[in-house]
Amino acid sequence: MKFDEIKKAAIIGAGTMGSGMGLCFAQAGYDVILYDISNEDLERALRRIDNSQEVLIREGIIEPSQAEHAKDRISVTTDLDKALEDTQFVLEAVPEILDLKKQLFKDLETLSGSETILASNTSGLSITEIASVCDKPERIAGFHWVNPPELIPLVEVIRGEKTSDETIDLIYDLSLTLGKMPVRINKEAPGIGLNRLQFAVLREAFHMIAEGIVSAEDLDRIMKYGLGFRYPWIGPIETADLGGLDVFYNISSYLFNELSDAKKPPESFKNLVEQGHLGIKTGRGFYEYAPEARDEILRKRDLYFIRQWKLINEVKKA
Ligand SMILES: NC(=O)c1ccc[n+]([C@@H]2O[C@H](COP(=O)([O-])OP(=O)(O)OC[C@H]3O[C@@H](n4cnc5c(N)ncnc54)[C@H](O)[C@@H]3O)[C@@H](O)[C@H]2O)c1
Repeated sequence: MKFDEIKKAAIIGAGTMGSGMGLCFAQAGYDVILYDISNEDLERALRRIDNSQEVLIREGIIEPSQAEHAKDRISVTTDLDKALEDTQFVLEAVPEILDLKKQLFKDLETLSGSETILASNTSGLSITEIASVCDKPERIAGFHWVNPPELIPLVEVIRGEKTSDETIDLIYDLSLTLGKMPVRINKEAPGIGLNRLQFAVLREAFHMIAEGIVSAEDLDRIMKYGLGFRYPWIGPIETADLGGLDVFYNISSYLFNELSDAKKPPESFKNLVEQGHLGIKTGRGFYEYAPEARDEILRKRDLYFIRQWKLINEVKKA
């Protein structure tokens, strides 16, 4: 399959991620078909797409006419055969259950054209393992997006043991036409790229809170107004280079030994989950969330992401 032969994409599983990823393909000019197991799921996906488009129009990212054209390119189905008809690119986003994904990839390979590229948005399952049930694993790769997919630029293109260079290059190029910022993950590793960094930070964050070094509120401030304040502009490796590797080496020499190397999530975290304090969706996690404040918090989060992306693009152009 050549990159410019891709005209239509099928998204398999139109939940939180599938609906947003489908919208990105449609906005970039591709025909998109969303496949899910029930009409209710598909209706919910279309409602999510409407809501996302509303935000993008309000923020001046797209014109109402562009939104309409994008929506016209999206169709839905509960028939897998129909979803794969004349489809050159398939992106799977069903729940993170290995057996479910393996069975699905078997079906996708049987029902799709022999050249069709099959990608999985898995958060961390092995692409090699998912592709192990297929006859042509060279056309199967990981394509990991970040939530909310229509707003976060990063996508990770993940090589399984048998993924071909052509498949990786095609997904990489496709990401660019979708307006995304792709990275190549050259070797499968649990948690892939982003989640390994995210959870390294979280392990230390939980440790610092549990040890009474800092409160949850102040820990978030350290990230938002210090470390994270830099990161949209210079990543951790650039930060070390700019700060001086001798300085960073000296700090590493005494600090690595002090950092958490816990092999399991801490009890305090486990207790919150066992007590049903799951964060905003249950009204309490580390913080409390009043039911009437929920939508506003999520709206503001999306607004920050949009403004930040606009600012990064403006500065890069300048
Ligand atoms: N939510 C996130 O933050 C996030 C981020 C990156 C990657 N992911 C990954 O993306 C995938 C999907 O996650 P999500 O958050 O969108 O889940 P979700 O539960 O919101 O959506 C999954 C959808 O798949 C559908 N589905 C279930 N079985 C199916 C089947 N056999 N065939 C077709 N559709 C089926 C469900 O009806 C649902 O609409 C997972 O692998 C997840 O790990 C999620």
